[in-house]
Amino acid sequence: MSVSRRGFLQGLGLGQTTHASEFLAARGHEEEVAFAMQGRQGGGRGMRPQLPPGVEAIRISSNENPLGPGKAVIDAILGKFPEANRYPFNSTPLDADLEILIAKLNAGKRENVVLGVGSQELLKNAARVFLSPTRHLVIPSPTYGDPAGFAQNQLKVTVKTAPVDPKTLKTDLGALLALVKGAGLVYLCNPNNPTAMINSAKDMSDFIAEVRKTSPTTGILIDEAYCDYVTDKSFSTAFPVALATPNVIVARTMSKAYGMAGVRIGYAIGQAETIRKMARYRMPYNVNTFGVAAAVASLKDPQHIRDEAARNTAVREFTIKALADLGYTSSDSQTNFIFTNIGKTMTAAAFREGCAAKGVMVGRDFPPLEKTWARISIGTMEEMQKATEVFRSVLKPATTTSSGKGQ
Ligand SMILES: Cc1ncc(COP(=O)(O)O)c(C=O)c1O
Repeated sequence: MSVSRRGFLQGLGLGQTTHASEFLAARGHEEEVAFAMQGRQGGGRGMRPQLPPGVEAIRISSNENPLGPGKAVIDAILGKFPEANRYPFNSTPLDADLEILIAKLNAGKRENVVLGVGSQELLKNAARVFLSPTRHLVIPSPTYGDPAGFAQNQLKVTVKTAPVDPKTLKTDLGALLALVKGAGLVYLCNPNNPTAMINSAKDMSDFIAEVRKTSPTTGILIDEAYCDYVTDKSFSTAFPVALATPNVIVARTMSKAYGMAGVRIGYAIGQAETIRKMARYRMPYNVNTFGVAAAVASLKDPQHIRDEAARNTAVREFTIKALADLGYTSSDSQTNFIFTNIGKTMTAAAFREGCAAKGVMVGRDFPPLEKTWARISIGTMEEMQKATEVFRSVLKPATTTSSGKGQ
């Protein structure tokens, strides 16, 4: 069943009424919430910028796919509304069908897969399984902050950090290894958020083998949220290693290339025993009917993801070049965001505020690199053409001779 946006709103009793405009206007609150949250994390202002009437903000702050999912996915979601009254176990596809599909696509079995409300749930559940007050967390710095925040604030666990390599901005696997003895869990994303860099498949499997030797009971959580955007051939997924090795988990999300950040579907793969431990923390029916239908439709349409990756690569190259032409170097991004050294002109906070005043929302601070590096998500080509003009007016062409590399 295909339903237009207007038809969908009318179906909800919202078409052409004042409620409809309220409903649509409410969408803007998400940005306020994001900004308020950035403020709480110390990275933003907690305020939505005032823009002239009619000027739409360009939101390139949360590493979302700016185009969203394909038609097959939207039809799958809308087609499930007649079953909204039913529990997920009385609807098809079942979450079990999604698990089986994921397993089949990745040479595993259903027992190797667990679903999450986005990958955030899975990162938290891995932390619950492996961490304790006497078993610390090891992470690179900077990296995606959720696991460390959860470990510190909720589980009261010590977090040990290994800075990324200051020259290449790659995750320093040797430095992580030095911290793993007796650790409960080591977390890293590959590619890393916010540095956008990858570690090669060989380096990752050597690292995993070394962790297993040094500290056999330590869990290894590899977050591959951005893997669909990688163009470097030395990268490959750690799924096969996770299936072959105890205590290794690979987490994936459908919030990035799949364009389903609002739908909240993630999954993790590992050995059956590891996955069983994680699944104990899963809420009953954690993933809903719409999300499961969307995920199944999406996984059956791999061409859509290939097209999205190619589109992102072209826009990423355009954006990196536009900033290079202004004298600002970016890391070798393998993701749908770039990490750019603006330090010779301003801090990430000043850049973010300058851009926000002109309607362009870029990423939050990433300590300890927030004095020099800013994260910019990749929007559509049209958005990035406008955004790079704003970057030009905020940054001005750099005049110093610094290479822009490193810290
Ligand atoms: C590296 C990384 N992992 C996980 C997530 C969370 O994704 P999800 O929307 O699946 O919870 C994000 C979100 O930005 C991320 O950058």
